[in-house]
Amino acid sequence: MSDNVVPMHSKSIEEDAQTAIDAMQELTNADMNLVNEIILSRMQSPVALIPELAGHLISSGGKRLRPMLTLAAAKLIGYEGKRHIGLATAVEFIHTATLLHDDVVDQSTLRRGKKTANLIWGNQPTVLVGDFLFSRAFELMVESDSLRVLKILSNTSAVITEGEVLQLTTANDLSTTEEKYLEVITAKTAVLFAAACEVTGVVSDQGTDVEAALSAYGKYLGIAFQLVDDALDYSAKQATMGKNVGDDFQEGKITLPVILAYRRGTDEEREFWKQTMQAVRQKEGDLDKALVILNSHGTLAATLDRARHYGEMAKDALAIFNDNPAKKAMLDIVDFCIARGY
Ligand code: IPE
Ligand code: IPE
Ligand code: MG
Ligand code: MG
Repeated sequence: MSDNVVPMHSKSIEEDAQTAIDAMQELTNADMNLVNEIILSRMQSPVALIPELAGHLISSGGKRLRPMLTLAAAKLIGYEGKRHIGLATAVEFIHTATLLHDDVVDQSTLRRGKKTANLIWGNQPTVLVGDFLFSRAFELMVESDSLRVLKILSNTSAVITEGEVLQLTTANDLSTTEEKYLEVITAKTAVLFAAACEVTGVVSDQGTDVEAALSAYGKYLGIAFQLVDDALDYSAKQATMGKNVGDDFQEGKITLPVILAYRRGTDEEREFWKQTMQAVRQKEGDLDKALVILNSHGTLAATLDRARHYGEMAKDALAIFNDNPAKKAMLDIVDFCIARGY
């Protein structure tokens, strides 16, 4: 399988990506320690299975990218209060809850390099602990004492679920358009990135231009992030990301690399996609063959080109802010999201 995987980026781009995430971590480190403390205290419950199951996922790390954005946005706009800490925690709880639910829905077996909760404990407790974390997120939102924040984050939770359900309706459907795909990834992923950034603007009370710019930055970054994620699903790097290579292929999930390959393909190749993605009749070697076709039409590269485009839009959204270290970190993190290998 690895023979057919084409490297996505050069070494120097990968090194710059690492520098960008390191800088972002340094910038947000002190606040992130507070976030991590709240995460640990709020995942507790007298029902032992809850912290056991939630702790399994939470202690396996994760990039904490979304709360990092909430915290970096606070530095960007010079917010001096403390409300962004609880909000960053709420954002990560929403993300964690969706991961638990998502792995049930996708029947995934590997997450953050470990067995998924659904594999270890089964679907029932995994779904319920996801609900528990959602509810904990709502408690934290309420504590922010802002009805607008509550509105943004509760709407975000609804839209994420809409995105996941919409995606189910496009599964195995090769007539799915790029536009529909963008609608799915905007809902399931980008809206949470947008909210993560926007809520800081809301509590700092700097007006709608600031809120809109933060929200736009997050949204475009989130779209770029998911585009890259969908390319990575067909990359050897997926293994270093702690997820399985070819999961999307195996479940017949219609993502941009396949949408483009189907469009650009020969009749024979289209027949192959129908067999494997629509009828989901897959045999040994099919994933390898899929990789060869994807690369022959350059559709992984094209997916990354789209990601770069949205990345540029994210950067442009920050134009209204004065230069400062947080702005630099937020600009550079866009490049990390595109070049990331995890
Ligand atoms: C995974 O998100 C879910 C997607 C939107 C693709 P991340 O890649 O941010 O997951 P963690 O938190 O770092 O594990
Ligand atoms: C993740 O979608 C988006 C949400 C968790 C809502 P995917 O299913 O594409 O992401 P991975 O590959 O499982 O992380
Ligand atoms: Mg998934
Ligand atoms: Mg999914």
